[in-house]
This record gives sequence, structure tokens and C-alpha cells, in this order.
Amino acid sequence: MEKYICVKELEDAASALLPKTARDYYRSGATDEYTLAENKRAFQRLRIRPKCLVGINKCDLGITVLGANITMPVGISPTAMQKMAHPDGELATARAAQAEGVIYTLSTISTSSIEEIAQAAPHATKWFQLYIYRDREVTRNLVLRAEKAGFKAIALTIDTPLFGLRRADVHNKFTLPNHLRLANFEGLLSTKINSTENGSGLNNYVNNLFDKTITWNDIRWIKSITNLPIIAKGVLRADDAVRAIEAGCSAILVSNHGARQLDGVPATIEALPEVVEAVKNYNVDVYLDGGVSTGTDVYKALALGAKMVFVGRPALWGLAVGGEAGVRRMLQIFRTELDYTFQIAGTPTVADITRDMVRHEALYSKL
Ligand SMILES: Cc1cc2nc3c(=O)[nH]c(=O)nc-3n(C[C@H](O)[C@H](O)[C@H](O)COP(=O)(O)O)c2cc1C
Repeated sequence: MEKYICVKELEDAASALLPKTARDYYRSGATDEYTLAENKRAFQRLRIRPKCLVGINKCDLGITVLGANITMPVGISPTAMQKMAHPDGELATARAAQAEGVIYTLSTISTSSIEEIAQAAPHATKWFQLYIYRDREVTRNLVLRAEKAGFKAIALTIDTPLFGLRRADVHNKFTLPNHLRLANFEGLLSTKINSTENGSGLNNYVNNLFDKTITWNDIRWIKSITNLPIIAKGVLRADDAVRAIEAGCSAILVSNHGARQLDGVPATIEALPEVVEAVKNYNVDVYLDGGVSTGTDVYKALALGAKMVFVGRPALWGLAVGGEAGVRRMLQIFRTELDYTFQIAGTPTVADITRDMVRHEALYSKL
């Protein structure tokens, strides 16, 4: 895996290996994919302002998140159906996260089950991503199983009343290949996604089964069935961040679902400052995902107030290229790039990264 030295190289190699339907499903954003490109471009519009002659011998990338010690401020976001990328699927991703000491998040619609992940990576810090099904018994079961299996938080996805329009999936009539199942379910709920009458089978599944009517009150319901902290995943506005916290969430994940839901929404790094500002008087963490593909991206998000960041597609590319070793390689690339950034920017620890380390390019073009 050493021949891959940046995430883009893993992406190119994965794209060459993956079957078209899986590649399109993993890569796509909503409709014109404007926000998909902006998630990356918006990072490029920020400039890092290094401090010189700080006299750093060694950097420490470690932090504590919701009580867990992790080795760097980069974790793995939930992405569905990972066995399309590699036969070991989510098991490999979770093992890689365990080996590298970072947070792993399992999707509700995964091809390995909650219990299999707990067994494969017993020492990883594991979070469970939750979609709320209309059938509340199904939903309650998922939460209780995750808690019992040692998962440490529920990342409740709040940006998905239905799935976004991803054109490639419609053209490809995307379905889960027949040899795979949604492993957290039994019966129809595990196989319904394997067939489609028209359009994307995934969108049909979600339309039929997810509860579109959920409101902030449902967070109170989840709190009534579990002691795990709840992270609101998918916040893009200050007022929603405050609502999430008032409803009992312990943390906010600024996310646009990898630009897969609604095209034209802000890049996540653009949305981050208003969310950080809105919750500054509450004692809660703010995280970010979307378009993070280099160590300097991570650094910029930390400077703008994120406690840590998560990556979705980079893990899929690593997984497709080399299973567990490929995901580990992806994480090592981030670790190396982050270490260089910390040293050259003159900030030995995460706590040293202050807001003034980053400035928008517009402030320079005015000179
Ligand atoms: C192929 C794919 C599947 C995803 N599946 C889920 C999911 O099941 N649940 C969820 O909350 N988010 C899902 N997401 C969104 C990710 O959790 C995350 O927000 C996003 O991928 C971050 O952007 P990035 O891919 O640019 O890092 C998915 C994203 C991708 C690309």
C-alpha cells in the first residue's frame, strides 16, 4: 500500500477497480454535483498562516472525544453497503480504525451487522449511525443492539427525509447485488434494496421505510430509550444547531451528506463558522465532514472551530484498493500530512490551533 501517498491516488486506483454501479454510487453527489465540487473547492479558498521559529520537537495529534482517547482528529463517517467495495466490507474498515486508534461509524444500512462489527473490532471506538424507520420497534431495536454491543454514541442523521436525486443511480437502476444483504435486518428489510421496479432501488427503499415525519421531538424519544450520547449529523444552520442541543444532542456534525442530498447547499467548511458561533455558549463538540481529502483540509476545519473531522469516500477508496490495509493506508496518509502541517504551521497540539491560523483568500485579494 506504500505506493499510495495521497488520497487522490487511492481514489484513482479504486475508480479503476470498482464495477461501474458501485463506483457511481460511491462517487455521486446530488443532481448537478455543484456542492460536491464546492465541498473541496471551499477548502482551497482558505489560507493557512504558519507561525515560524516556534521550536517544536514533536507534535501530538491526539484528542479526547466524548470521553474516548483517539490518536488524531480524523474519524470515519458512516457509508452504506461497503461489501460492494471489498468482500470484507465494514469489518475491514472497523479493524483499520481500531488499528489506527480513530473513531469508526457504522451505517444503519450496512452489509455487516452491529454484532459482527463489535466482534471484529472490540477495542475500536465505535459509533452507530441511525436512520429512523417508520416502524419504531425496528428503530428501537437498532439503538438497543448498538448500545449492548459496546458502541459509544448514536450519530442520528437528520438530513434525510428522503434520499437525494443522484442521477447515476437512477440511470444504473442501482440495487444492492443479490449476494449481499442489509445485515442489520431480517426478512424483507434486509433484501428489499436488492430489487427495483424503476429508478434507484435505494431511493425506493428509503421512501418506503424511513420516517419522513420526524421532528426534533423524536430526539427526545431516542434519549428516552438510550443513555448513549446523540450526535446530530447533517446540520448546516446555526438555528438547527441550537435546536439539536436543546433537544438533547451532545454534539453537532456539520455535514451535507457528502453533497448527496440537496445540490446548492453550502460546502461544509463554509457552514462550519456559523454553527461554531451559534453553540459557543453550550458545552458541546462540533465536528465536520464533506470533501476532506488532505491533512491541510483537516487543519483548516480545526482552525475554524471543529473538534475533529470525519471522512466518508476516502475510506471507501482505501477499502476498494486494499481492504483493511487500504483503509489503514488512507488513515496513515492523513496522519503524515497532518503531522507535517502541525510542524510547519508551528502548532504542536490541536489546542494550539487558533482561529487566526486560517484566513479566507478574499482577505488577501483585497490587498
Ligand atoms: C457512498 C456513500 C454512502 C453513504 N451512506 C451514508 C449512510 O448510510 N448514512 C449516513 O448518515 N451518511 C451516509 N453517507 C454520508 C457520509 O456519512 C458523509 O457525510 C460523507 O460521505 C462525507 O463526505 P466525503 O465523502 O466527502 O468525506 C454516505 C456517503 C457516501 C459517499
